[in-house]
This record gives sequence, C-alpha cells and structure tokens, in this order.
Amino acid sequence: MTTVKAVRGTRDLLPPETELWNRIEATARKVFARYNFGEIRTPVFEDTSLFARSVGEETDIVSKEMYTWEDRARAQSEKAQSLTLRPENTAGVVRAYIEHKLGESGQLQKLYYIGPQFRRERPQKGRYRQFWQIGAEVIGPPSAGSESPLRDAEVLEMLATLLDELGIQGWTLELNSVGSSADRARYNEVLRTALIEVAPKMCGDCQRRAVTNPLRVLDCKVPEDQPIIDTLPKITDSVDQESKDHFAAVTEALDAAGVLYKLNSRLVRGLDYYTRTTFEFTHGGLGAQNALLGGGRYDGLSEAIGGPKAPGIGFAIGLDRLVLTLQTTELNQKAAPPQVAAPKVAAYIAPLGESLNAAALVLAHELRRAGLSIELGDGSFRLKKSFEAADKVARHIVILGEDELQSGILTVKDFATGTQSKVPRTELVSFLAQ
Ligand code: HAM
Repeated sequence: MTTVKAVRGTRDLLPPETELWNRIEATARKVFARYNFGEIRTPVFEDTSLFARSVGEETDIVSKEMYTWEDRARAQSEKAQSLTLRPENTAGVVRAYIEHKLGESGQLQKLYYIGPQFRRERPQKGRYRQFWQIGAEVIGPPSAGSESPLRDAEVLEMLATLLDELGIQGWTLELNSVGSSADRARYNEVLRTALIEVAPKMCGDCQRRAVTNPLRVLDCKVPEDQPIIDTLPKITDSVDQESKDHFAAVTEALDAAGVLYKLNSRLVRGLDYYTRTTFEFTHGGLGAQNALLGGGRYDGLSEAIGGPKAPGIGFAIGLDRLVLTLQTTELNQKAAPPQVAAPKVAAYIAPLGESLNAAALVLAHELRRAGLSIELGDGSFRLKKSFEAADKVARHIVILGEDELQSGILTVKDFATGTQSKVPRTELVSFLAQ
C-alpha cells in the first residue's frame, strides 16, 4: 500500500530540533517584551482581497504563489467567499488594527507574531511552502509618532540585539529608501523606459519582468545581467526630499547606536506596500536564499485597505532560515551545539508488575506536580528492560514494588554515579532534584 507523505514544500519538525525552535521563540518573546511589544495572533486564512489590495495584485506572491480556494456557502445566510492561506502577516495585522479600531487609543501599537505562512514557491534549501515567521509591526496615527525615523532605527536596533542574543553573527543589514508610493510608481516607469533598450540582452526572466514588473529586474541574480543592472537608473534618484531627510535621520540614529548597515539602492522588496525605509538582514551561510529577514515602512497600507491614516514599520524573520543559520554557524556549534540529544528527565519510574501501574501513575503525578520531569515505565517490562529504557532517558530509576509501596521507602539508582539508595517517599523530590 502506498503511504501518505508530507506535502511537497512542507515538513515535520521533530524533537530534539524543536528544542532549538522553542529556544529561539522564547528569546524573541523576551526581547520583544523589553521593547514593550505585545503578541497578536491573527487567523491563518483571510479574505483573498486583503492580500490583493495590500501585497499587490502584480507581485509574484499574489499572482502565482497563494493558496486560494472558493469557500462554499453552508447556509442561505452565508455567501461564497474567496479565501487565502496567509502568505505573510503584515496585511492581517493591519486589517486587525482597522477592525478593532486600535488607532483610536491614540497610542502606537507595537505588535509581534510567531506563526506559519504559506507560499507556493519552488522548494529548495531555506525555501518552503509552509514556513514560519517571527515578525513585529509598529503602527499608529501620525500624532503618536508612527512616522518618526526614530521608530525605524529602534526596530533595526532591536533586530540587531535579537540576533546578537540568539548568537547569530556575520549578518549584514542592507538598507534603502524607496520613497513615497508616488516615487516608487514613477521609478517603475523610469525603469520600464530604460529597460526597453537593454532587456533584450538580459535573461528570459528579466525580459518578462521588464514588461510586467520592472522593479523585479533588480532582484535578478544571473551574473551576466549584473553589469547591465548596474547601469540602470537608481531609485535613490527618484526619491523626494522629504523621504531623503527621513532616511538621513534613520541612518544618523543607527550610527549613534552603533548598528552597522550597508546601503543597497537595489533593495526595493517584493511587496507593493513599502514606502521609504526598506531593509533586509542577509547571512552568507544561507546560500541562494540568503535573506534572514526583511521589512520596511508601509505608510499607506492602512488606507489602501480602507482604514484610517496609520503609518507603520515592521519586519518578518524567516524562522526556518534562522534555525538553519544557527545549525550551520561554526562558532555556535563550538559554543553550544544546537543539535544536542534531548536532555534527560529527572527519573524513570519502574513499577514491578502490572498490578503496580496505577500506584506508579500516582507517584509520577506527585513528582511532576512538584516540578520534576518524569518518564513513566510499564509494569509489564522485566526489570532489565526497565533499566535499559531508563538509562536512555533519565538520570535516575525509581523502583516501585509491593514492598516499596507498603514501606514508603523507594529504591533509587543514580545512573551517573552507579549508586543505589533507599529514599523515603517524602524525601524523593529533593533527592531527585539534585
Ligand atoms: P518577506 O521578505 O516576504 O517579507 O519575508 C520575510 C522573510 O520570511 C524572508 O526574509 C525570509 O527569511 C522568510 N521567507 C519568505 N518566504 C519564505 C519561504 N518560502 N520559505 C522560508 N522562508 C521564507 C514579509 O513577509 C513582510 N510581511 C515583512 C514585513 C513585516 N514588512 C513589514 N512588516
């Protein structure tokens, strides 16, 4: 019989690797709390039009990578609706901001999320169809300071701190300003015109992009095309003075905070909602998919989906790529190998016979309630098998026979020292916790 496998581009995360995922998530939550961010959880699927209107109809994500289906009406009162598995989380956060009128508080909203996203991309190392993001957004009415360049610098400084606390070294922050949405649209046309002459000498993808979405030509990685791309007009020349001043204030604050960055005028990003500051953190250890995270400002996004003026800035870290980086970074392997075997539990309880199973469950319950991690054996096992099983997963084995149950004195073996002791049940917690 054929077996059912995980769908292409999706994968299972198993222990002990999930330990590393949990450690990363816990560190992110700790850092976000220090910067006064709160958690938001939005649905995994949304109305398709949300993504078409925010990420943009013409982008690769919306035009070919979304998992979309027609959700049938189940009752007369319902309408059929086109739904989509979220390809990213910024659109959902801004929808929630509008829906719950979060702007009416007059405060900046600082929200973070951790969750799966879905894109039908060609799977390869670091690129999956279900992948995970850790992201954050700072959004609010202009009166709350949401447009301030200080917000951009603070978000970038937080990212540098987070990567540092995770033990990730050797990243590069690439930074650019794409100006207002009008600047961006104007630049798109400037590029389109410039490409008419040179596109025929470029790769097939670029020839197509030159017509459908000229900005994407800047993402081309084909070596022969690079000298041609270098001669194309730069977005920096299409950016208005206000955006230039804003960007200068961002870089000045980053300089003051000692956050290193590299200016990259080709960094226009693949989502339509970006305005002004855009950025990516790249890492050499990742190979072709070298963007560890990406983000930027989206000052007009709320209005584009029917909300009030609510400028914002945010980012999303590719959690799968963060894990890959930590697993492959040599230095990290030396400091604290992320792929260590699962930690051992405090004790394995071995009931001597099936009639003692229920009593063993009670003892395990007591010890676990006291905060110890316990593995519960099975009375159908012979003692030798219990010892072997216990030695693999636990630091101690606790033997529970009829005598032990009656006398309240348990036999405990410590695998590290090889010593066997008689321990009163009342002292078991402190004995095992050592
Ligand atoms: P993005 O650049 O599309 O931006 O994705 C952010 C990060 O998610 C990427 O840098 C990458 O690490 C990871 N990523 C994207 N696609 C995949 C994939 N197929 N497999 C594995 N990892 C992937 C956004 O999603 C924006 N919402 C970020 C943002 C937040 N901008 C403002 N606020």
